[in-house]
Amino acid sequence: MISIRNIVKKYRSGSEEIAALGGVSAEIRAGEFTVILGPSGSGKSTMLNMLGGMDRPTSGEILLCGEDISGFSEKKLTDYRRKNVGFVFQFYNLVENLTAYENVAIAADLNGKADKAAEALRDVGLEKRMKSFPSQLSGGEMQRVAIARAVAKSPRLLLCDEPTGALDVATGDMIFGLLKKYSHNKDAAVVVVTHNPEVAKIADHVIRLCDGKIVADESPCLHLIEARAV
Ligand SMILES: Nc1ncnc2c1ncn2[C@@H]1O[C@H](COP(=O)(O)OP(=O)(O)OP(=O)(O)O)[C@@H](O)[C@H]1O
Ligand SMILES: [Mg+2]
Repeated sequence: MISIRNIVKKYRSGSEEIAALGGVSAEIRAGEFTVILGPSGSGKSTMLNMLGGMDRPTSGEILLCGEDISGFSEKKLTDYRRKNVGFVFQFYNLVENLTAYENVAIAADLNGKADKAAEALRDVGLEKRMKSFPSQLSGGEMQRVAIARAVAKSPRLLLCDEPTGALDVATGDMIFGLLKKYSHNKDAAVVVVTHNPEVAKIADHVIRLCDGKIVADESPCLHLIEARAV
């Protein structure tokens, strides 16, 4: 669904230039739960931001169905994000004085899909907490509201930056399960950045970054299918 080709991203800090990404190429496919792993500073968030059109590469191509989004105008990029991309972050970013339902509805409403808010909250198991405020919810529940908010507009691409970084292991596993289910049920591309190498076990596609380079790109399920075909 999205191909990135030879992406380089350099940042300038003072007189120094930092290469956050040093020429990375990958395919992000619909219907797959993709995990990006790598040490701190390896370029994971930078890569996610490129895919989501939040930042532009210094060079290289980001092809969405054959069209290079890196050359889009600001307005076209905003449209691209609004129509196609959902984001989930580590610290939820919920609006404190709005209920769970209202948090999801205002985002869903961007695309005229406010009616989807209740459905999205039901899908993440929060039908009984719609009227709760963020301060009345646990960390796992807040992250589920954030996921409902991101998926309410049915994005084809769901990008998650350390969505379980603030959660205990069991709650984190539940969140990963929900995200994987979304990719399969909705034929969406879900890309998750995490520090948790265990998640690779349930992923359809694993990309490992180190020092701004891809050091491994594995699709365990494809290998299984190929092995079965032999
Ligand atoms: N806006 C920026 N300006 C300057 N340097 C940046 C900027 N954003 C990222 N970098 C640098 O680029 C490199 C990659 O950063 P990135 O945030 O992608 O790493 P990461 O793999 O997400 O790390 P972490 O696991 O700590 O979140 C780092 O060395 C970082 O300091
Ligand atoms: Mg990061």
